[in-house]
Amino acid sequence: MVLKVSGLNKSYLQGDGTFLEVLKGIDFNLLKGESVAVMGESGSGKTTFLNCVAGLDRFNSGQVLLLDKDLSSLKDKDLGLARNRLLGFVFQFHYLLKDFSVKENVMMPCLISGETQSRAEERALSILEKIRLLHKAESFPKQLSGGEQQRAAIARALVMNPSLLVMDEPTGNLDEHLSDDIIATVLKFCKENNTGILMATHNSKIAGMMDKILRLKEGVLWNQE
Ligand SMILES: Nc1ncnc2c1ncn2[C@@H]1O[C@H](COP(=O)(O)OP(=O)(O)OP(=O)(O)O)[C@@H](O)[C@H]1O
Ligand SMILES: [Mg+2]
Repeated sequence: MVLKVSGLNKSYLQGDGTFLEVLKGIDFNLLKGESVAVMGESGSGKTTFLNCVAGLDRFNSGQVLLLDKDLSSLKDKDLGLARNRLLGFVFQFHYLLKDFSVKENVMMPCLISGETQSRAEERALSILEKIRLLHKAESFPKQLSGGEQQRAAIARALVMNPSLLVMDEPTGNLDEHLSDDIIATVLKFCKENNTGILMATHNSKIAGMMDKILRLKEGVLWNQE
């Protein structure tokens, strides 16, 4: 088991002083190498769920175990370390660092984890090749197309060979053909490396490429009928 979520509750304080309960006791398991799509209406809590699972947001109660590590019990520094080693995250918009080349962006998680420059470079070039972006290694983010930028962000998320790849609408602003192509590449890589995938998407075709589709509704996850 890569991820075990039990009784996850999360509410937000709203502008008017009341609380909005977004996640209401979510139970969810993800197996090694399994790919799961989370669908649901805008505002249903997909991003909230992914952020809690990925340790980007704290939750009110419940438990998130990432490879048996209890995220809520970790201090910020250890949480950062666990995230760096175990997890890759891809946002809807890439968030690449604009002053660094594609290669340098992808090397970043390796350098943060304390690897040498040459080892980080080796790993970055290897993952860029697998994600079919090696020819743009020396380019800067603004010199890439939207799809290429997203590929670079995915390469950065995968460079540490994480156990879990979390993606929030990774192809939200790309056309359908490109989206299919990128997701197919990622799926292939993740199957080969036994990387679990948890992805939020509005695109039912892409969701259909995953092993399982779940729907987030009224604060809980439902199996797709
Ligand atoms: N920081 C915050 N403070 C208060 N309310 C928030 C905050 N972040 C999100 N919300 C609310 O929580 C609910 C769930 O938001 P979330 O972003 O998780 O939805 P989503 O399913 O990802 O939607 P979308 O498909 O549009 O991305 C929404 O009603 C949103 O307004
Ligand atoms: Mg969202």
